[in-house]
Amino acid sequence: MQATLYIIGVGPGDPDLLTIKALNVLRRCPVIATPKATQNGHSTALSIVQQALPVAETHEKEIMELHFPMKKIQLGQEPDPEVLQAWQYAAGKIFAILSQGRDVAFPTLGDPAIYSTGYYLYATILEMHPEVRVQFVPGISAMSSCSATTHTPICLGDDMLAVIPATFSDNRLRQILETFDTIVLMKVHRVMDHLISLLNDLNLLDKAALVERVGMEDERVIGDLSVLAGQTGQVHYFSTIIVRKK
Ligand SMILES: C[S@@+](CC[C@H](N)C(=O)[O-])C[C@H]1O[C@@H](n2cnc3c(N)ncnc32)[C@H](O)[C@@H]1O
Repeated sequence: MQATLYIIGVGPGDPDLLTIKALNVLRRCPVIATPKATQNGHSTALSIVQQALPVAETHEKEIMELHFPMKKIQLGQEPDPEVLQAWQYAAGKIFAILSQGRDVAFPTLGDPAIYSTGYYLYATILEMHPEVRVQFVPGISAMSSCSATTHTPICLGDDMLAVIPATFSDNRLRQILETFDTIVLMKVHRVMDHLISLLNDLNLLDKAALVERVGMEDERVIGDLSVLAGQTGQVHYFSTIIVRKK
């Protein structure tokens, strides 16, 4: 039987938020191919899996750590050659294992449908090998977990929701903050000063809360964002802001 690549959302950090399906598929796969952002760093997705699976089971598996450089990607534009090369390298390595008849699990943080490497890998491997079998396993997203932690609904009734990376350099961020009822801001860590002043301008500062490293041991919830003014770079990359107007 042809082997399958499973792209699996493992939630944002708390291993208890892995779904039963994710766990069952991870248990079955002999190989875990896991993304990491730096060459010498470690994979957060893998560490979530390792906390959820019994040690003995993890030891029996082949672990393949793959470096996916973190660079801005704009859809419709050719990605940075280093990024493209990394996707192609990863797709090639994974395909070689699938060709041996072995299933591969590719755990990815949160849900693979939301700003995740999983879909870039999917597109690349399909382009190189259109016959490849891929299945997605959805996961709990960081925004769902931040919503639960802060007791903030994401949308109710006729609310309109926007989920965006906070890194737009043009006017879109202001327009979105003006237009939508709930705005989930991701990738906020490098633009905190800009965000705080924009939220202040729009009288939204008291409607916003930031959750850093939700579900991890050192999780922080910051309800008053003004305490972070002048601290751009001081919050972790794993930080999400929910702005809810109502
Ligand atoms: C590349 S995106 C991955 C999103 C992920 N696929 C999801 O479904 O949540 C990375 C962004 O997700 C958010 N994020 C991921 N893990 C988080 C965590 N544990 N706590 C807070 N935000 C997190 C942050 O906004 C971070 O900049």
